[in-house]
Amino acid sequence: MTLAVSPTELVQRSVVSRAEIRRALAEARARTLKLIDVVTEADLRAQHDPLMGPILWDLGHIGHFEELWLDRNLDGKVEFVEMPGMYNPFEHPRRVRGELPLPTLAATLDAMAAIRERVLERLERVDLESDDPLLRDGYVYQMVLQHEYQHNETMLQTLQLKQGAPYSPAERRELPRRGTPNGSADAMVRVDVGRASVGTDDRARAYDNERPRHLVDVPPFWIDRTPVTNGAYIAFIEDGAYRRRDLWSQAGLAWLDESKAEGPKYWLRDRGEWLRRSMDRVAPPDHAAPVIHVCYHEAEAFARWAGKRLPSEVEWEVAASWDPNAGRSLSYPWGDREPTASDANLDQLSFDVAAIDSYATNVSPLGCYGMLGDVWEWTSTNFDGHPGFAAFPYAEYSQVFFGTEYKVLRGGSWATRPGAIRNTFRNWDYPIRRQIFSGFRCARDD
Ligand SMILES: [Fe+2]
Repeated sequence: MTLAVSPTELVQRSVVSRAEIRRALAEARARTLKLIDVVTEADLRAQHDPLMGPILWDLGHIGHFEELWLDRNLDGKVEFVEMPGMYNPFEHPRRVRGELPLPTLAATLDAMAAIRERVLERLERVDLESDDPLLRDGYVYQMVLQHEYQHNETMLQTLQLKQGAPYSPAERRELPRRGTPNGSADAMVRVDVGRASVGTDDRARAYDNERPRHLVDVPPFWIDRTPVTNGAYIAFIEDGAYRRRDLWSQAGLAWLDESKAEGPKYWLRDRGEWLRRSMDRVAPPDHAAPVIHVCYHEAEAFARWAGKRLPSEVEWEVAASWDPNAGRSLSYPWGDREPTASDANLDQLSFDVAAIDSYATNVSPLGCYGMLGDVWEWTSTNFDGHPGFAAFPYAEYSQVFFGTEYKVLRGGSWATRPGAIRNTFRNWDYPIRRQIFSGFRCARDD
């Protein structure tokens, strides 16, 4: 038998069964509930910080989004992109969600369960081989699953910001023992691939902003083998970087003056030594682990200090995905196989970053470590559509954010669920944000 399709196409055309969808929906919900199991109702209702709304709102919104896409919008026409009301994110920005008359936790969970019941009932009747691109290969189910995964990560941002006693997870997965370093943390990799493809044509799972797959000419460049470590970042701080105005852009200086930052978010000085907090653990920063909770301006200033620059989004994706021997891009740094717990620091339960080289398989064909997991990586690119972009199934997922306000982040963090990350996945945020699980690596011209 000969294969008429390439291995990449085979991966993308995975036929999804009803049983798999049911299992994935149940698994996603179990994780959402596990994260909040140890949190009091008062803490779920509280607006802990203007940056993030109450977790109780996230819960109601997860249910609301599921009801909209897996029930109402399957009636033949897409009625709304976000339903009007309490859980509409555009009507109620994060900083004011604490003032909403949110129902009790019990009522919220009951509503979510009732929605799930209707969704499962309808799942038995839908045509997953339909010509409707929303249903074909179960796309809309993947979209709703990823939405819940993504809200799990925003819930963790809120839990890290939490006022009062720090969040103490019910279960913590121990990080692997660090492996033998594959090279020094400050090594760089030279990338000279000529032409490479970025983006994807996948319609079973990828978001509209990841499509289409397209060829780009990539001038040779160098990129850090690993994300920038706490050790390197401390050297930057100790060199007076937060007071050296020449290292910062105009916008970076405005942020610096306003924030009065002297180090990453959640770092504090104790008798001359740095400590950092991750949930309920406070410890000196591990010099071998990636720096996390830095904004774009800090990343950019570090790069300038190091005589480098931030990578563009295309450079980042090529470094993560391009396999020069196969002449094609891979879905993950290690290949097309979906992430397992031993591939990368993903899936939340470690509740922290891991030392560089802890995951032996987390190396791209070009030799970059940790492109997925641990920290989202800032790139120098503004969020915009790929050439040939078409909004699907709704412009409010990404198109309304295109422009110069947001920078693209890549690669997921320890707080990202594996189903919500791949080499082509694009995240975006304001350059001043650092409650997100963000770090970076640097690049330079050849
Ligand atoms: Fe949402």
